[in-house]
Amino acid sequence: MTTEIELKRGLQGVYIDRTQSSFIDGAIGKLLYRGYSIHDLSEKATFEETVYLLLYGKLPNRKELNDFDAHLRANRSIPPEIVQIIRLIKDAHPMDVLRTAVSALAAYDPDVADNSLESTLRKGVRLTAQAPTIVTAHARIKDGKEPVEPDSNLNQAANFLYMLFGKEPTSAEARLMEKDFILHAEHGINASAFAARVAASTISDLHSAIVSGIGTLKGPAHGGAAEEVMKMALDIGEESNAEQYTRDILESGGRIMGFGHRVYKVEDPRAPHLQAECEALGEQKGQPKWFRILSKVAEVMEPYASRGICPNVDFWAGTMYHLMDIPKDIFISIFAMGRIPGWTVQVMEQYANNILLRPLLLYEGPMDLEYVPIDQRE
Ligand code: COA
Repeated sequence: MTTEIELKRGLQGVYIDRTQSSFIDGAIGKLLYRGYSIHDLSEKATFEETVYLLLYGKLPNRKELNDFDAHLRANRSIPPEIVQIIRLIKDAHPMDVLRTAVSALAAYDPDVADNSLESTLRKGVRLTAQAPTIVTAHARIKDGKEPVEPDSNLNQAANFLYMLFGKEPTSAEARLMEKDFILHAEHGINASAFAARVAASTISDLHSAIVSGIGTLKGPAHGGAAEEVMKMALDIGEESNAEQYTRDILESGGRIMGFGHRVYKVEDPRAPHLQAECEALGEQKGQPKWFRILSKVAEVMEPYASRGICPNVDFWAGTMYHLMDIPKDIFISIFAMGRIPGWTVQVMEQYANNILLRPLLLYEGPMDLEYVPIDQRE
């Protein structure tokens, strides 16, 4: 019987449903959000516009964008009880804190038990607005500082940097952060979106689905790569060490973080946008060495391109954050903040045409064993 079963380990190459949210063609390195190229969105759109596009399915006109942006800005605060929770668990990893705080926010959300599409959208907007407040409050509390209140005069990206550092970023830094949020906003049925959809498929609520997404994103095979790449660059230390360091990892059967992707086999179309920024920022900050180290690693990895192993978005993101003085341990949280709209839209799609996500496992253990009472076991 078992010979007739075709196992699809890791669900590789399996379509589990239809979507209108994003399109990915890994063979040619193409990514669209709602039909629009990631190249256009990352270069020309704002994060707020991109979130509107994902959630409402169309680009907003000026009035729609202004109203939506004002709504996002008005929803950034978090209850003092959540700040208390953050204080209690301040020594945990920022992703654990974000996961816990989002979970706790459910207790304060007036729509928590309402899984209608309208309510889910409202909750997704609130969580998108609140996530940077959680992440920055934790980063500051951990550092012995007080959280900075959100500033409604600043857009999402600028306000995030303002709440993190306690001073307004330059417009160039804010735009860089915004571009990063846009590039991370949505990405098909990756592991965290799948986790969010699995939770939604049981008709659980958006907070639970986003908590599942955050927990799944945390792993180094998914969102954790940016942090690992920067650790690698720091470990390498000097450009002259990069080649040997990379070869040593590969020869010992290890993986170079920030390389490879389950879907993209030629180029991750998000990567070049951050690569260019990373180089420019390094020059501007008088620290070109990190870009040079990573470029050397990428050079050693060039032969792997023929096996479909190319730099992914996280290869350059970590260095960009480092150059902006963002602490390493919140790199994944930045990814999560950008991705909340993507998780939300996928949860809405799941609800709109729900089917319980429940695949099968092929059992390979022994069968029909005789139960032996405990006193008679050897
Ligand atoms: N460095 C070196 N070799 C790599 C590699 C990397 N980063 N990524 C994949 N490979 C190799 C594997 O060793 C394997 O080789 P083998 O066939 O000789 O055993 C082959 O490529 C296929 O790897 P596999 O893990 O089966 O591919 P996948 O599609 O399941 O993996 C990732 C995708 C992202 C999990 C994987 O590329 C990876 O671990 N990358 C590093 C982490 C990372 O950057 N994650 C962020 C993704 S956005």
